[in-house]
Amino acid sequence: MKIAILSGSVYGAAEEVARHAQRLLGAAGLETWYHPRAGLDELLAFAPEALLVVTSTTGMGELPDNLQPLYHALRDRLPAWSGRPGAVIGLGDSSYGDTYCGGGEQIRELYAEMGILEVLPMLRLDASESVTPETDAEPWLAELIGLLRGR
Ligand SMILES: Cc1cc2nc3c(=O)[nH]c(=O)nc-3n(C[C@H](O)[C@H](O)[C@H](O)COP(=O)(O)O)c2cc1C
Repeated sequence: MKIAILSGSVYGAAEEVARHAQRLLGAAGLETWYHPRAGLDELLAFAPEALLVVTSTTGMGELPDNLQPLYHALRDRLPAWSGRPGAVIGLGDSSYGDTYCGGGEQIRELYAEMGILEVLPMLRLDASESVTPETDAEPWLAELIGLLRGR
């Protein structure tokens, strides 16, 4: 199974989580693709069978600037990925209240528009609760690996 990992990050935490996810998914035998600065054409060339988006939230519930171009390109082009499995890891801070993990929520809406099926509830990593997002993501990633291998 070929899985593309996309990330949106301001200070680097989401990128670290994405890299860790790539290591674990790769070690489990999945074919991973993670190029933080790649555009839509490179992503399409990989022809992903599954999608994992790891994104923090900035501003008032917004996606980081470095994910915006790819997000808008996907919304404009809507590749025919309907029915493919997807999952989201949202990094945020619950002290922001209503906009907690708003960036991740925008990706969930994009998945819905594209017909991508969320195979696991979004993992929310709360910066006000923990400073070890990579290890915190491990049980959820193990569950994701199990679900993708079973398909
Ligand atoms: C200026 C600023 C605005 C933020 N706005 C939000 C927000 O609206 N909702 C949220 O859940 N987290 C918000 N956060 C928290 C970050 O998403 C969180 O610290 C995350 O771990 C940062 O990950 P990154 O290093 O990948 O950017 C904000 C952080 C900063 C500095």
